[in-house]
Amino acid sequence: MLRSAPRSGVSAALWPAYRVDSLPVSDLNPITQEAADAAVEAALAAFAAADSVAALKTARTEHAGDGSAIAQLNAKMRDVPKDEKAATGKVMGQARGRVEGAYKAREAELAEQEAAARLVAETVDVTAAPSRQRAGSRHPLAQLQEEAADIFVGMGWEVAEGPEIEHEWFNFDALGFDPDHPARAMQDTFFVEPADRHLLLRTHTSPVQIRSLLERELPVYVVAPGRVYRTDELDATHTPVFHQIEGIAIDRGLTMAHLRGTLEHFARQMFGAEAEIRLRPNFFPFTEPSAEMDVWQPNAKGGARWVEWGGCGMVDPRVLAAAGIDPEEFQGFAFGMGIERTLQFRHDINDMRDMVEGDVRFNRQFGGLV
Ligand code: PHE
Repeated sequence: MLRSAPRSGVSAALWPAYRVDSLPVSDLNPITQEAADAAVEAALAAFAAADSVAALKTARTEHAGDGSAIAQLNAKMRDVPKDEKAATGKVMGQARGRVEGAYKAREAELAEQEAAARLVAETVDVTAAPSRQRAGSRHPLAQLQEEAADIFVGMGWEVAEGPEIEHEWFNFDALGFDPDHPARAMQDTFFVEPADRHLLLRTHTSPVQIRSLLERELPVYVVAPGRVYRTDELDATHTPVFHQIEGIAIDRGLTMAHLRGTLEHFARQMFGAEAEIRLRPNFFPFTEPSAEMDVWQPNAKGGARWVEWGGCGMVDPRVLAAAGIDPEEFQGFAFGMGIERTLQFRHDINDMRDMVEGDVRFNRQFGGLV
């Protein structure tokens, strides 16, 4: 008796070409082609319906595992009449082979789908605009100002700060500037309105020296770094806002020799061990005697030369008196230099405007990355 295999849309395509289409069986054979095909069909349908590798594994346990229809059919092999065992075994072998083949094909398909889905989920868009802020840089003037102050801290001095909007008395009167001194004129000083409050943008950091003398116990060794203002137009050699570091030392028995030694040490720390300084007589209202201080630049572009670096002198007894100090008992020296000029000399910067434009490429050359 010949029985033809049932064909359904799901399974037909998956059947191997070598499949035997029918199985001759006697009524004594407990295994039928239909039963084998039905078990295979059910397994293939379940595999096709599984939408994940995990679901597929569950379907395999159900359709190819111990209690499955195929396993139950297989168990009946021992009851198959002897002369039908070979043909029936072949049918069962084909059935198991098809189930296993379908499982493997579907597993590969699902694994590939899952990998593709994972790739999409984990994609990084390398073309997206970066949102991170670019790293900036510390300004070389700020760095140099700190470095200069540190040199004095290394000698046991203190660092003092004061207001940039200053009272005229601290900026001028206490320092010996007469009421009609030209530096007070409108061309040099930014006054703050209303004029009757006598406030201005400090023109030097010397008022911090007066404040230090009033606030501190003697002896005093103080440096005052900071921003100062003068009514200059911005050009290659001037800026209306610039920085100074000034110092004042008041103690018993201080002389010009202490001033000179201190400045020489400072110059050598700033410009190298070969640096020399030179004092030239000058006038300041708050020091007597007063001097301009030059520094020798052996490696300057265009040849070695003296450059004017700052002013200095012995503190005028009238300034000491204004701060309530007895000039008979205490003496001292003071000095002040521009941070911009110092940076120019150290690094051969020709144009001051580079220092105020805030271009990070200029700043980075000095290594102050943040
Ligand atoms: N204050 C002076 C200036 O700004 C510099 C200076 C300071 C000179 C101390 C002498 C003593 O030009």
